[in-house]
Amino acid sequence: MNRVIAWDPAQYHRYADERSRPFAELLTRVGAVSPRYVVDLGCGSGELTALLAQRWPEALVEGVDSSADMLAQAPAGARLSFTLADIRTWRPVRPVDVVVSSAALQWVDGHEQVLREFIDALAADGWLAVQVPGNFAADSHRLLRDVAARWVPELTLRTDPVLDPTGYFALLAAAGLQVDAWETTYLQVLPGEDPVLEWVKGTALRPVLAALAPGRQPAFLAEYGAALRAAYPGGSAGTLFPFRRVFAVGHR
Ligand SMILES: C[S@@+](CC[C@H](N)C(=O)[O-])C[C@H]1O[C@@H](n2cnc3c(N)ncnc32)[C@H](O)[C@@H]1O
Repeated sequence: MNRVIAWDPAQYHRYADERSRPFAELLTRVGAVSPRYVVDLGCGSGELTALLAQRWPEALVEGVDSSADMLAQAPAGARLSFTLADIRTWRPVRPVDVVVSSAALQWVDGHEQVLREFIDALAADGWLAVQVPGNFAADSHRLLRDVAARWVPELTLRTDPVLDPTGYFALLAAAGLQVDAWETTYLQVLPGEDPVLEWVKGTALRPVLAALAPGRQPAFLAEYGAALRAAYPGGSAGTLFPFRRVFAVGHR
Protein backbone atom coordinates (compact mmCIF):
# COMPACT_ATOMS: atom_id res chain seq x y z
CA MET A 1 0.00 0.00 0.00
CA ASN A 2 1.91 3.02 -1.19
CA ARG A 3 -0.97 5.47 -0.84
CA VAL A 4 -1.55 7.08 2.53
CA ILE A 5 -5.15 6.40 3.49
CA ALA A 6 -6.88 7.32 6.68
CA TRP A 7 -8.52 4.62 8.75
CA ASP A 8 -11.65 5.38 10.74
CA PRO A 9 -11.95 2.97 13.68
CA ALA A 10 -15.61 3.90 14.30
CA GLN A 11 -16.61 3.11 10.72
CA TYR A 12 -14.58 -0.12 10.73
CA HIS A 13 -16.25 -1.27 13.95
CA ARG A 14 -19.81 -0.81 12.69
CA TYR A 15 -19.61 -4.48 11.72
CA ALA A 16 -17.36 -5.66 14.53
CA ASP A 17 -19.03 -9.05 14.84
CA GLU A 18 -18.62 -9.93 11.15
CA ARG A 19 -15.04 -8.66 11.18
CA SER A 20 -13.99 -10.54 14.32
CA ARG A 21 -15.42 -13.93 13.38
CA PRO A 22 -12.73 -14.83 10.80
CA PHE A 23 -10.03 -13.87 13.32
CA ALA A 24 -11.52 -16.30 15.83
CA GLU A 25 -11.89 -19.04 13.23
CA LEU A 26 -8.31 -18.54 12.03
CA LEU A 27 -7.02 -18.97 15.57
CA THR A 28 -8.87 -22.26 16.09
CA ARG A 29 -6.35 -23.89 13.74
CA VAL A 30 -3.26 -22.61 15.59
CA GLY A 31 -1.99 -25.29 17.97
CA ALA A 32 0.60 -23.24 19.90
CA VAL A 33 0.34 -24.17 23.59
CA SER A 34 2.49 -21.70 25.53
CA PRO A 35 4.11 -19.24 23.13
CA ARG A 36 6.30 -16.52 24.65
CA TYR A 37 6.18 -13.93 21.86
CA VAL A 38 3.19 -13.34 19.59
CA VAL A 39 2.96 -10.70 16.86
CA ASP A 40 -0.21 -9.38 15.18
CA LEU A 41 0.59 -7.72 11.83
CA GLY A 42 -1.90 -5.02 10.77
CA CYS A 43 -3.57 -5.24 14.15
CA GLY A 44 -5.87 -2.24 13.61
CA SER A 45 -7.31 -0.95 16.87
CA GLY A 46 -6.02 -3.93 18.78
CA GLU A 47 -9.09 -5.40 20.46
CA LEU A 48 -8.53 -8.67 18.60
CA THR A 49 -4.83 -8.53 19.48
CA ALA A 50 -5.90 -8.44 23.14
CA LEU A 51 -7.66 -11.78 22.63
CA LEU A 52 -4.27 -13.29 21.82
CA ALA A 53 -2.96 -12.19 25.22
CA GLN A 54 -6.03 -13.76 26.87
CA ARG A 55 -5.55 -17.04 25.05
CA TRP A 56 -1.83 -17.30 25.84
CA PRO A 57 -1.23 -16.06 29.41
CA GLU A 58 2.56 -16.50 29.19
CA ALA A 59 2.95 -14.53 25.98
CA LEU A 60 4.13 -11.03 25.27
CA VAL A 61 1.84 -9.87 22.49
CA GLU A 62 2.83 -7.08 20.09
CA GLY A 63 0.44 -5.52 17.61
CA VAL A 64 1.96 -3.67 14.65
CA ASP A 65 0.05 -1.22 12.48
CA SER A 66 0.83 1.80 10.31
CA SER A 67 -2.33 3.74 11.27
CA ALA A 68 -1.94 6.05 14.26
CA ASP A 69 -5.73 6.54 14.23
CA MET A 70 -6.31 2.81 14.65
CA LEU A 71 -3.61 2.40 17.32
CA ALA A 72 -5.03 5.35 19.27
CA GLN A 73 -7.95 3.05 20.17
CA ALA A 74 -5.75 0.14 21.26
CA PRO A 75 -6.44 -1.35 24.69
CA ALA A 76 -3.87 -1.38 27.48
CA GLY A 77 -2.64 -4.62 28.97
CA ALA A 78 0.33 -5.82 31.00
CA ARG A 79 1.64 -8.16 28.30
CA LEU A 80 0.28 -6.15 25.40
CA SER A 81 2.20 -3.60 23.35
CA PHE A 82 1.55 -1.78 20.10
CA THR A 83 4.05 -0.50 17.58
CA LEU A 84 3.37 2.12 14.91
CA ALA A 85 5.23 0.75 11.90
CA ASP A 86 4.89 -0.44 8.33
CA ILE A 87 4.92 -4.22 8.09
CA ARG A 88 6.74 -4.01 4.76
CA THR A 89 9.82 -2.91 6.69
CA TRP A 90 9.29 -3.65 10.42
CA ARG A 91 10.87 -6.89 11.52
CA PRO A 92 10.98 -8.48 15.00
CA VAL A 93 14.27 -8.36 16.86
CA ARG A 94 13.92 -11.91 18.16
CA PRO A 95 12.25 -15.12 16.91
CA VAL A 96 8.46 -15.12 17.10
CA ASP A 97 6.40 -18.07 18.32
CA VAL A 98 3.15 -17.03 16.64
CA VAL A 99 2.70 -14.53 13.80
CA VAL A 100 -0.92 -13.58 13.12
CA SER A 101 -2.23 -11.31 10.37
CA SER A 102 -5.96 -10.86 9.83
CA ALA A 103 -7.51 -8.75 7.08
CA ALA A 104 -4.35 -6.67 6.55
CA LEU A 105 -2.03 -8.20 3.95
CA GLN A 106 -4.39 -7.34 1.07
CA TRP A 107 -3.22 -3.75 1.58
CA VAL A 108 0.46 -4.64 1.27
CA ASP A 109 1.97 -4.75 -2.20
CA GLY A 110 4.36 -7.69 -2.42
CA HIS A 111 2.89 -9.31 0.67
CA GLU A 112 4.15 -12.73 -0.43
CA GLN A 113 7.74 -11.62 0.22
CA VAL A 114 6.67 -10.07 3.53
CA LEU A 115 5.22 -13.45 4.52
CA ARG A 116 8.43 -15.26 3.57
CA GLU A 117 10.43 -12.89 5.75
CA PHE A 118 8.10 -13.42 8.72
CA ILE A 119 8.35 -17.18 8.22
CA ASP A 120 12.13 -16.75 8.47
CA ALA A 121 11.53 -14.93 11.76
CA LEU A 122 9.56 -17.84 13.27
CA ALA A 123 11.00 -19.69 16.24
CA ALA A 124 11.35 -23.47 16.18
CA ASP A 125 7.82 -24.90 16.56
CA GLY A 126 6.48 -21.49 15.49
CA TRP A 127 3.14 -20.81 13.85
CA LEU A 128 2.02 -18.39 11.12
CA ALA A 129 -1.71 -17.64 10.74
CA VAL A 130 -3.04 -15.46 7.94
CA GLN A 131 -6.51 -14.39 6.83
CA VAL A 132 -7.23 -12.14 3.86
CA PRO A 133 -10.48 -11.17 2.14
CA GLY A 134 -10.88 -13.02 -1.14
CA ASN A 135 -13.76 -10.96 -2.49
CA PHE A 136 -12.03 -8.80 -5.09
CA ALA A 137 -14.18 -10.26 -7.89
CA ALA A 138 -17.41 -9.63 -5.95
CA ASP A 139 -19.94 -7.06 -7.19
CA SER A 140 -18.99 -4.69 -4.36
CA HIS A 141 -15.42 -4.43 -5.66
CA ARG A 142 -16.20 -4.76 -9.37
CA LEU A 143 -18.65 -1.86 -9.11
CA LEU A 144 -16.17 0.16 -7.07
CA ARG A 145 -13.54 -0.29 -9.79
CA ASP A 146 -16.07 0.59 -12.53
CA VAL A 147 -17.38 3.76 -10.85
CA ALA A 148 -13.97 4.87 -9.55
CA ALA A 149 -12.45 4.48 -13.04
CA ARG A 150 -14.74 7.32 -14.18
CA TRP A 151 -14.29 9.55 -11.13
CA VAL A 152 -10.58 9.05 -10.42
CA PRO A 153 -9.07 7.52 -13.57
CA GLU A 154 -5.56 8.10 -12.23
CA LEU A 155 -6.24 5.64 -9.40
CA THR A 156 -5.56 1.96 -10.07
CA LEU A 157 -7.43 -0.46 -7.83
CA ARG A 158 -5.87 -3.90 -7.84
CA THR A 159 -8.04 -6.79 -8.95
CA ASP A 160 -5.95 -9.57 -7.43
CA PRO A 161 -4.08 -8.47 -4.30
CA VAL A 162 -4.33 -11.88 -2.60
CA LEU A 163 -3.73 -15.55 -3.44
CA ASP A 164 -6.13 -18.49 -3.39
CA PRO A 165 -5.73 -21.12 -0.66
CA THR A 166 -3.60 -23.19 -3.04
CA GLY A 167 -1.28 -20.20 -3.54
CA TYR A 168 -0.75 -19.74 0.19
CA PHE A 169 -0.35 -23.51 0.58
CA ALA A 170 2.45 -23.46 -1.98
CA LEU A 171 4.12 -20.38 -0.46
CA LEU A 172 4.11 -21.70 3.10
CA ALA A 173 5.03 -25.27 2.11
CA ALA A 174 7.96 -24.01 0.02
CA ALA A 175 9.21 -22.26 3.16
CA GLY A 176 9.18 -25.58 5.01
CA LEU A 177 5.94 -25.24 7.00
CA GLN A 178 3.20 -27.80 7.50
CA VAL A 179 0.18 -26.07 6.01
CA ASP A 180 -3.55 -25.91 6.54
CA ALA A 181 -5.22 -23.60 4.00
CA TRP A 182 -8.89 -23.09 3.25
CA GLU A 183 -11.55 -20.58 2.26
CA THR A 184 -14.96 -19.69 3.65
CA THR A 185 -17.73 -17.61 2.12
CA TYR A 186 -19.71 -16.01 4.95
CA LEU A 187 -23.28 -15.19 4.02
CA GLN A 188 -23.38 -11.96 5.95
CA VAL A 189 -26.78 -10.45 6.72
CA LEU A 190 -26.34 -6.72 7.24
CA PRO A 191 -28.99 -4.50 8.85
CA GLY A 192 -29.90 -0.91 8.05
CA GLU A 193 -29.88 1.42 5.06
CA ASP A 194 -27.16 1.04 2.44
CA PRO A 195 -25.25 -1.45 4.59
CA VAL A 196 -22.86 -2.60 1.85
CA LEU A 197 -21.84 0.99 1.20
CA GLU A 198 -21.33 1.48 4.94
CA TRP A 199 -19.26 -1.72 5.07
CA VAL A 200 -17.04 -0.69 2.17
CA LYS A 201 -16.59 2.80 3.62
CA GLY A 202 -14.72 1.11 6.47
CA THR A 203 -12.19 -0.54 4.15
CA ALA A 204 -12.01 -0.68 0.34
CA LEU A 205 -13.52 2.75 -0.28
CA ARG A 206 -10.90 4.58 1.72
CA PRO A 207 -8.26 4.89 -1.06
CA VAL A 208 -10.92 6.14 -3.47
CA LEU A 209 -12.26 8.75 -1.03
CA ALA A 210 -8.69 9.80 -0.27
CA ALA A 211 -8.16 10.45 -3.99
CA LEU A 212 -11.42 12.41 -4.43
CA ALA A 213 -11.76 16.09 -3.54
CA PRO A 214 -14.21 16.36 -0.61
CA GLY A 215 -16.67 18.34 -2.73
CA ARG A 216 -16.96 15.47 -5.23
CA GLN A 217 -17.42 12.72 -2.67
CA PRO A 218 -21.23 13.00 -2.14
CA ALA A 219 -22.02 12.60 -5.84
CA PHE A 220 -19.57 9.73 -6.14
CA LEU A 221 -21.11 8.00 -3.11
CA ALA A 222 -24.61 8.51 -4.52
CA GLU A 223 -23.66 6.81 -7.79
CA TYR A 224 -21.75 3.96 -6.18
CA GLY A 225 -24.43 3.53 -3.50
CA ALA A 226 -27.17 3.21 -6.12
CA ALA A 227 -25.15 0.54 -7.95
CA LEU A 228 -24.67 -1.35 -4.68
CA ARG A 229 -28.39 -1.19 -3.84
CA ALA A 230 -29.17 -2.76 -7.23
CA ALA A 231 -26.57 -5.49 -6.73
CA TYR A 232 -27.48 -6.19 -3.08
CA PRO A 233 -31.21 -5.47 -2.64
CA GLY A 234 -32.46 -5.41 0.93
CA GLY A 235 -35.01 -7.95 2.13
CA SER A 236 -37.10 -8.50 5.24
CA ALA A 237 -34.14 -10.19 6.98
CA GLY A 238 -31.64 -7.52 5.96
CA THR A 239 -29.18 -7.31 3.07
CA LEU A 240 -27.31 -10.47 2.07
CA PHE A 241 -23.64 -9.68 1.48
CA PRO A 242 -21.64 -12.85 0.71
CA PHE A 243 -18.02 -12.40 1.70
CA ARG A 244 -15.24 -14.82 0.76
CA ARG A 245 -12.17 -15.06 2.96
CA VAL A 246 -8.95 -17.03 2.49
CA PHE A 247 -7.11 -18.60 5.42
CA ALA A 248 -3.68 -20.20 5.79
CA VAL A 249 -1.96 -21.57 8.88
CA GLY A 250 1.58 -22.90 8.85
CA HIS A 251 3.58 -24.72 11.52
CA ARG A 252 7.33 -25.06 11.59
C1 LIG B 1 -8.97 -4.08 7.81
S1 LIG B 1 -7.90 -3.58 9.12
C2 LIG B 1 -7.70 -5.13 10.01
C3 LIG B 1 -7.56 -4.92 11.48
C4 LIG B 1 -7.55 -6.20 12.32
N1 LIG B 1 -6.40 -7.03 12.04
C5 LIG B 1 -8.81 -7.00 12.12
O1 LIG B 1 -8.74 -8.20 11.80
O2 LIG B 1 -9.92 -6.46 12.29
C6 LIG B 1 -6.39 -3.48 8.23
C7 LIG B 1 -5.28 -2.84 9.02
O3 LIG B 1 -4.06 -3.06 8.31
C8 LIG B 1 -3.26 -1.92 8.51
N2 LIG B 1 -2.23 -1.87 7.47
C9 LIG B 1 -2.42 -1.79 6.13
N3 LIG B 1 -1.24 -1.75 5.51
C10 LIG B 1 -0.28 -1.79 6.46
C11 LIG B 1 1.14 -1.77 6.45
N4 LIG B 1 1.84 -1.72 5.28
N5 LIG B 1 1.80 -1.82 7.62
C12 LIG B 1 1.12 -1.89 8.80
N6 LIG B 1 -0.23 -1.92 8.87
C13 LIG B 1 -0.92 -1.87 7.72
C14 LIG B 1 -4.23 -0.76 8.47
O4 LIG B 1 -3.68 0.40 9.08
C15 LIG B 1 -5.43 -1.34 9.20
O5 LIG B 1 -5.42 -1.02 10.57
